[in-house]
Amino acid sequence: MQLRFFSFAVLVKTRDCYGATMRLFSPRSAIAALLCVCAILLACETDKSRWTDAQLHLTPEQAAGRNVFNSYCSACHSAYTSKKLTGPPLTDLYKKRAMPSGAPPTDERVSAVVMRGRQMMPAFGGVLDEQDLQSLLAYLHTL
Ligand code: HEC
Repeated sequence: MQLRFFSFAVLVKTRDCYGATMRLFSPRSAIAALLCVCAILLACETDKSRWTDAQLHLTPEQAAGRNVFNSYCSACHSAYTSKKLTGPPLTDLYKKRAMPSGAPPTDERVSAVVMRGRQMMPAFGGVLDEQDLQSLLAYLHTL
């Protein structure tokens, strides 16, 4: 008798608990929780563009390339965040299988885009010399 009452109590408790849990995880609060997580993740994306060359552990050549990037590219491309400016972000450029155009991110392709331009992107062939280009590529490899 006692055992039956006990199991009935457990059943009722389980049902209560289930109801409460379902209320806690109603679709609306689940969506709210998801939005919170997304907001936190977005806020956590560190924009390292204000970091010093030393903090980024750049070699002198990569640091020179960073100067080239900041002078000629950063107005249209973010280097460390997924923020889309006039051009696509160049975060993880060489770690990806393909650039936005679908071409593989090889030095040859990247050099061609930079020197000859591409659609809305101006050409830098008349602006950058070979040394600037090599430093720029060295820097882009660190992203
Ligand atoms: C005036 C804005 C502007 C500037 C300045 C600029 N870009 Fe771009 N860039 C773009 C746009 C727009 C695209 C997308 C082109 C397209 O439609 O494929 C692009 C695309 C690219 C791509 C991807 C190419 C592909 O195949 O998908 C790379 C890499 C790139 N730019 C590198 C650079 C570098 C390095 C510099 C600095 C020397 C630079 N860009 C300067 C606007 C710019």
